[in-house]
Amino acid sequence: MDSVKNKNIWIIGASSGIGEALARELAAQGAKITISARSEDKLKAIADSLGEGHTALPLDASNPDMLINAANSFKDLDTVIFLAAIYAPHSKETKDIDFIHKMLDVNIGGVFNTVNAVQPVFEKQGKGQIILCGSVAGYRGLPYGQPYCATKAAIHNYAESLKIELEPKNIDVKVISPGFVKTQLTDKNEFPMPMIIETDEAAKAIAKGITGNQFEIHFPKKFTYIMKLIKILPTPLFFALSRKMRKAQ
Ligand SMILES: NC(=O)c1ccc[n+]([C@@H]2O[C@H](COP(=O)([O-])OP(=O)(O)OC[C@H]3O[C@@H](n4cnc5c(N)ncnc54)[C@H](OP(=O)(O)O)[C@@H]3O)[C@@H](O)[C@H]2O)c1
Repeated sequence: MDSVKNKNIWIIGASSGIGEALARELAAQGAKITISARSEDKLKAIADSLGEGHTALPLDASNPDMLINAANSFKDLDTVIFLAAIYAPHSKETKDIDFIHKMLDVNIGGVFNTVNAVQPVFEKQGKGQIILCGSVAGYRGLPYGQPYCATKAAIHNYAESLKIELEPKNIDVKVISPGFVKTQLTDKNEFPMPMIIETDEAAKAIAKGITGNQFEIHFPKKFTYIMKLIKILPTPLFFALSRKMRKAQ
């Protein structure tokens, strides 16, 4: 894709944070945006503020039928970007198995529901683009990162599988790996978040990545390259490093 101008782009998880900022950035670049999430009122207010030609399409990403109905409602769809996720800090997660199951349903289940819904649409069109959101937190199993980080690791794995599988069908697959971005999601964290950036910066990096040739869209680069270095450390060395992050028992 040379430019996003006049492209039909569907962002799932766009009622706040990175998704909302991305909707604003892509609309400013001339794309026709459809935004989804559960919060109908917020979505409508955002779609209205984007101006003419943009649509709010409320849904719950953990519901496969809602995704199928939504995907089939497009006359023409160029790109779907899946950003929906829920998160709770580790101490809360570990006490709440019901929340962990919800997180699996949204963070990973939502990805499978989305691909299941859009792949037939893209195959019929003979083209399309699927962009999933992982995280540098999914590169390796850091202490206190799980289970949210495990959901992100799964997305990286799945995106790699899909990339090669769907290439012959003219469907481009990419994965987004953000470092820390200031949103309601990271506002829950009580630990220091190095090199945290604002949503506008994240949105600009993603918008650039949509039209680029790279499989992975990662930012901010100074931070993600450090995480990439950690990713390729031999396991014993990685464990020696991550033991230093372990809190006193
Ligand atoms: N912020 C960071 O530092 C960071 C770092 C790495 C990766 N990420 C990833 O970036 C993505 C965006 O996160 P964010 O930081 O912008 O958080 P956010 O502001 O909380 O955005 C999450 C979005 O997902 C939507 N959502 C949640 N559950 C949903 C469901 N069942 N169905 C449909 N939509 C649902 C939320 O809207 P509703 O509540 O209205 O449904 C919201 O629009 C996530 O995938 C996150 O894992 C973020």
